[in-house]
Amino acid sequence: MTPYAVTYALHLLAALVWVGGMFFAWMILRPAAVSALEAPARLKLWLEVFQRFFYWVWAAVIVLPITGVGMLNLRFSGFETAPRYVHIMIGLYIAMLALFLRVQALQLPELRRAVAAADWPNGGAVLGRIRRLVGINLILGLLLISIAAARPSL
Ligand code: HEM
Repeated sequence: MTPYAVTYALHLLAALVWVGGMFFAWMILRPAAVSALEAPARLKLWLEVFQRFFYWVWAAVIVLPITGVGMLNLRFSGFETAPRYVHIMIGLYIAMLALFLRVQALQLPELRRAVAAADWPNGGAVLGRIRRLVGINLILGLLLISIAAARPSL
């Protein structure tokens, strides 16, 4: 395996874990939790889910730029000569990172406090805000992957 192939594989795996994890959370776990659990159990479940999933998201947000910049240098010899879709990828990455950091730094602690205080109405409101941001990030991630897949025409 060449260094480029290893870097490329790590990049794709990181994208898969982050975007695939959000897809599963939004499209499968969210409706299943709504239909199977009452609010207190559902909020506790989401807190556990986010705490575990976010370790992997942290790994992805670190691996993606390192491997991305590695490929930029190995394949395109720098940012200026890289194709337009790579510039778009970096822009969307920054937007996704900002949304993730907002959830991690502001909303997750709020959810943790609401669950600890058994304040279910407030916990439900925080969960709604997290859901919206994760939904936006999922759309950005799917868009980004579609743009990467369409790269020959960009
Ligand atoms: C700073 C952030 C990033 C940089 C510098 C970057 C850079 C790159 C580069 C240079 C390539 C290889 C291009 C080629 O060989 O033609 C690539 C491919 C790819 N990237 Fe990124 N990337 C970044 C973030 C992301 C993110 C956040 C995702 C998805 C969540 C992503 C998904 C992909 C995919 C799916 C490919 C494969 C495209 C293909 O060959 O079909 N990247 N990226």
